[in-house]
Amino acid sequence: MKSLISVLDLREEEVRSILKGASSVKEGRIRKLKGDALLLFMEPSTRTRISFEKACRSLGLSTYTVTGESSSMSKGESFYDTLKTFEALGFGLVIFRVPFILYPYEDLISDLNLSLINAGDGTHQHPTQGLIDLFTLLEVYKDIRGVKVLYVGDILHSRVFRSGVPLMRMFGARVSVCGPKTLIPRDMKVFGIEEVFDSVDEGIEWADVVIWLRLQKERQRENYIASERSYFEQFGLTRERYRRLRGYFMHPGPVNREIDIDGSLLYSEKSLIQEQVRNGLFVRMAVLEWCLR
Ligand code: CP
Repeated sequence: MKSLISVLDLREEEVRSILKGASSVKEGRIRKLKGDALLLFMEPSTRTRISFEKACRSLGLSTYTVTGESSSMSKGESFYDTLKTFEALGFGLVIFRVPFILYPYEDLISDLNLSLINAGDGTHQHPTQGLIDLFTLLEVYKDIRGVKVLYVGDILHSRVFRSGVPLMRMFGARVSVCGPKTLIPRDMKVFGIEEVFDSVDEGIEWADVVIWLRLQKERQRENYIASERSYFEQFGLTRERYRRLRGYFMHPGPVNREIDIDGSLLYSEKSLIQEQVRNGLFVRMAVLEWCLR
């Protein structure tokens, strides 16, 4: 029984094993599991929650879901005590999304007789999204050594960025970022970033693939941008920029139309957005198998 809280805990051979598992289930080779899964979602989610539910059920696991206000965490119960409750009820697996950063977490894992899967903790990690983005890129390029990946937008608040970058770099991709200075963390060196572009147009010229991130208005306690309109004009995917994209673009969703991306481009030829969602199911099935076998 394993847990997955951060991609930084994964060795390359473990990532390869999960990706191989995802390819297998995508080709229809499914080995059933037994047991129950508890989904604790303290933040809104469409694709992560539903794909985890579907992944569990496709593998033969029964699912139980607790969300936001329906949880006793809204009455002040701690995350730890909530997990202890699930443990006492006989669950072996908890998939959680919480608004806070879970760090450090080693003691939590060792103290509980549970497999824990992080479906997003504050601005920290969203490991399955990182794995989905890597899997999707590997399907397109087969080998991403030397492929230039540009992340654009709200880097500061992005757990997708913090999960994706170590994986992309593990597989040899070159990574740069672009966004308003107010939304770029001060020390980008720790991420192994090649360049911080002020201009998205220069970034697009450099990149083979561009990953637009959602402007996370719900996490912004200050005014990080002048206006949504000026943000879109400066950093968004416009039709003009779309024409200049060399390769594909991605977005983990949900998309702010006309802020992150021109809505008419979401399902266009150069978009991998639907592929990311489709692969979400297979990658999450593979993660469940990896954790529970
Ligand atoms: N990408 C992602 O985490 O989407 P949801 O918030 O809809 O789960």
